[in-house]
Amino acid sequence: MADSHAARIDSDAAPAGDVAVEMIGVNKWFGEFQVLKNIDLKVMKGDRIVVCGPSGSGKSTLIRCINRLEEHQKGSIIVDGVELTNDVKKIDEVRREVGMVFQHFNLFPHLTILENCTLSPMWVKKVPKAEAEEIAMHFLGKVKIPEQAHKFPAQLSGGQQQRVAIARSLCMRPRLMLFDEPTSALDPEMVKEVLDTMVELAEEGMTMLCVTHEMGFARQVADKVIFMDYGEIVEENPPSVFFSNPQHERTKLFLKQIIT
Ligand SMILES: Nc1ncnc2c1ncn2[C@@H]1O[C@H](COP(=O)(O)OP(=O)(O)OP(=O)(O)O)[C@@H](O)[C@H]1O
Ligand SMILES: [Mg+2]
Repeated sequence: MADSHAARIDSDAAPAGDVAVEMIGVNKWFGEFQVLKNIDLKVMKGDRIVVCGPSGSGKSTLIRCINRLEEHQKGSIIVDGVELTNDVKKIDEVRREVGMVFQHFNLFPHLTILENCTLSPMWVKKVPKAEAEEIAMHFLGKVKIPEQAHKFPAQLSGGQQQRVAIARSLCMRPRLMLFDEPTSALDPEMVKEVLDTMVELAEEGMTMLCVTHEMGFARQVADKVIFMDYGEIVEENPPSVFFSNPQHERTKLFLKQIIT
């Protein structure tokens, strides 16, 4: 049933070639502690960027700044041509374009899978219920669990719940998807099904910024791997260079640690 909408639904993917996100000289502090230091980053539409680095290096903070879940104090962040400031209207505008998937899926436990997916489109975008359900079923089909639509989150495995979280984001028709360690809370046997979903999304041209230590995923789909340490981008290279010829000692050490 969702197929009638499929072409229109999928055709919204952002055209390649333009800038999706630009961060210029971004600095952020938590009190006295400087968590982001002079971050310059340009993400083009259609880019798949993997962000990695040690715990506490600022990866989550970096991507949370892109949809203003965190506020930066210096520098500028421009998302799809809109600069993030205190202007609430602009923040809303950006959030409407940006989907985010977290380590913990944050599904509403008292709503069915279908209701989790239709809630924002209906309330934020005022999409009529029948259409919201059709879109939801389309994306639940895409993440390969349409048959779970009428269950509640607790009745699904972790991997299935994370795929619902991805589908729920997609229902808002984002132009950019942010992932913050989407597989790190999953049992090992469920990691692959979530990564497969992400690979498919990448292959369809979604602009993606993924914090992950899944280096197989990085090798397979990333255009660029970014390594952060102590709030800085230390290295930024295509996976071929990043893995075979890391430029910085800190990157080398990190790679050695995660590979062993
Ligand atoms: N709300 C906050 N208030 C104060 N300090 C914070 C806050 N959020 C994060 N930090 C600190 O900022 C630093 C960077 O945190 P962040 O969560 O961005 O790191 P990360 O690279 O995502 O780490 P991990 O791999 O463990 O998820 C850490 O030292 C953390 O303790
Ligand atoms: Mg983090």
